[in-house]
Amino acid sequence: MKTRMKAAITAIGGYVPEYVLTNAELADMVDTNDEWITSRTGIKERRILKPEEGKGASYLAIKAVEAMKAEYGITTEDIDLVILASVTPDMPVAITSAFIAQEIGAKHAFAFDLQAACSSFLYAVSSAAAYIESGKYKKVLVVGSDVMSSITDYEDRTTCILFGDGCGVALMEPSEEGYGIQDEILRTDAQGRDFLRIEAGGSFLPPSHETIDNKQHAIRQEGKSVFRFAVSNMADTSAEILEKNNMTGDDVAYLVPHQANLRIIDATARRMELTPEKVLINIEKYGNTTSATIPLCLWDNRHKFNKGDNLIFAAFGGGFTWGAMWVTWAIDKK
Ligand code: UT7
Repeated sequence: MKTRMKAAITAIGGYVPEYVLTNAELADMVDTNDEWITSRTGIKERRILKPEEGKGASYLAIKAVEAMKAEYGITTEDIDLVILASVTPDMPVAITSAFIAQEIGAKHAFAFDLQAACSSFLYAVSSAAAYIESGKYKKVLVVGSDVMSSITDYEDRTTCILFGDGCGVALMEPSEEGYGIQDEILRTDAQGRDFLRIEAGGSFLPPSHETIDNKQHAIRQEGKSVFRFAVSNMADTSAEILEKNNMTGDDVAYLVPHQANLRIIDATARRMELTPEKVLINIEKYGNTTSATIPLCLWDNRHKFNKGDNLIFAAFGGGFTWGAMWVTWAIDKK
């Protein structure tokens, strides 16, 4: 039987800035402590791109692409499309993905930015897969890059402990062997609009002296409500994608979850009946890097994967947006 062509991840890269912001340092900035942060979130430290460096999401992306090229010995000149998944592009306009494409030498590529909060990377992979499966484009670079420190209020202890900066990139190409993106469930629900957002800076409430004085350009969330929705929705879709494909936890090599809170990840893994060694976690090092959590997790764990491994990607974010994706790993183990 002929295998249908799929869109596969054929190379991966990652980069985090050097500065390490520890729980101890945060405890000097706001009323918090290492014990609270660790027990409630699983986070120990996060990386921060210092504002004085004058760099944005594109800088992290260019570094991550350099890492990918060094690891896999690939060229970027023949990339057809660059999709940037990000809630913190370099600037609202012009698009950041065009700049990334230029800087990495993807001379013939077109590019666009995509925003779906913490599910951005998942949605971008889905879009890239659709382009590839249709036969329209062959080589798509998906970038998940966020400088969350640029939208974090470091006087708000309920949010500033959560977020970090980072980037992961995935090159996607056709797989005639049928490896790659097998299935997905993607969802949105606008009731999330009230619970997790940046109030000002968009067309609804443009920037003004007042919005700056009120600190309305920083990310705010009703943590408890978001937590409740995240646990039930991320776990539900992750279990659903297994059921839909007649799989059980035994068939899964690894869960690659969005890293927002260790307790949300644990709840998802329990619903999928996964043993702990199948759950990839790096939240302790990076915190929540939004669009970068899943590709950074792939980058950190790339040496564990065997070709053909069943991976489940799962995410939940503002909007609300969420989803789960079944991916078979297409890269030979070195
Ligand atoms: O990736 C996008 C999606 N986002 C998420 O998935 C985040 C989901 N939410 C969460 O991860 C959790 O709700 C948080 C980690 C944000 C908060 O944990 P929680 O267990 O839900 O705590 P809480 O908000 O119910 O706060 C419990 C207490 C409160 O004090 P009182 O009212 O009980 O006296 C807070 O004021 O903890 C207090 N608190 C803190 N204490 C020390 C809140 N933040 C801190 C802090 N340090 N940093």
